[in-house]
Amino acid sequence: MEEWIKKIAEALDLEELEKIRIAIFGKKGILAKEFAKLKTLSNEEKPKVAKELNEVKIKFNELIAKKRDELEKKVLDEELKKDEIDVSLFSPYNNKGALHPVQDTLDRIIEYFVSMNFSIETGPLVEDDFHNFEALNLPKYHPARDMQDTFYFKDEKLLRTHTSPVQIRTMQKHKPPIRMISPGAVFRRDFDLTHTPMFHQVEGLLVDKKGEVSFANLKYILSDFLHHMFGEVDIRYRPSFFPFTEPSAEVDISCIFCKGKGCRVCSQTGWLEVLGCGMVDPNVFEAVGYKEVSGYAFGLGVERFAMLIHKIPDLRSLFEGDLRLLEQFR
Ligand code: DAH
Repeated sequence: MEEWIKKIAEALDLEELEKIRIAIFGKKGILAKEFAKLKTLSNEEKPKVAKELNEVKIKFNELIAKKRDELEKKVLDEELKKDEIDVSLFSPYNNKGALHPVQDTLDRIIEYFVSMNFSIETGPLVEDDFHNFEALNLPKYHPARDMQDTFYFKDEKLLRTHTSPVQIRTMQKHKPPIRMISPGAVFRRDFDLTHTPMFHQVEGLLVDKKGEVSFANLKYILSDFLHHMFGEVDIRYRPSFFPFTEPSAEVDISCIFCKGKGCRVCSQTGWLEVLGCGMVDPNVFEAVGYKEVSGYAFGLGVERFAMLIHKIPDLRSLFEGDLRLLEQFR
């Protein structure tokens, strides 16, 4: 018995262990021989010896199972060692990743508004007519719907043309006060140097008690934000029209390419339009059942910001995944 325990312990590999197992448990193995001897014993001795033999059998089983686990682990370890890769090895293809300029710009926008205590809200890309248009004071057949070249599905569903529907969804979900931005993809049937069918917007909405929110508040935060994004620029608020705000304005910054002197990018005007904004139209509050409140809203295009910040001439290049462009942002 001792002799076999030693043999098991010293087995070098699974093959050797299997030979030992057969020598012990096989038809002609040592256990079989011992059990055969039982016949020759007296009726008194038989049960005692048989019991002992069974214990030995169990013991051998355990020892072999344990040894097998050990050897199998050794085989696996050796296999893993073979496959090990040396991560410190020099590689000529050492391409570092970088954030896509649109993501990087979006991160900077979000960072500003989060620091100003705005929450982040999201909404579905497939919207319904009510949220994308109707509740935003854009009734059916209103001419202003033409401003947005919409992709339609069946049964009044559409790809949202702006992030403004998230204003509606947020107000439907939460009681005032509201202080949120909503970044996300939007879709329009448009494709040229400055338009792609999918692009990103950031919407902003702030609502509080009636009389507590003024256009001056809106001007303050947007001007501060634009300085955060573009540094030292002049800013002007130009009267404009959006169905969901009244009064409405478009915001321009002095051209960052020619410093306001007039160039091709700013069409010789010295100004670049970067934002739409205004005081939330009472009809919008009515659509969501808000009473006795006032608020401001704004919306901007993330790709437009990225193009201006990084001086990218063609919007479409942001979506081509061309490494020659992306490598410049490492
Ligand atoms: N939704 C507008 C667009 O896509 C952008 C916009 C303008 C959003 C003014 C606003 C706003 O919230 O007040 O062109």
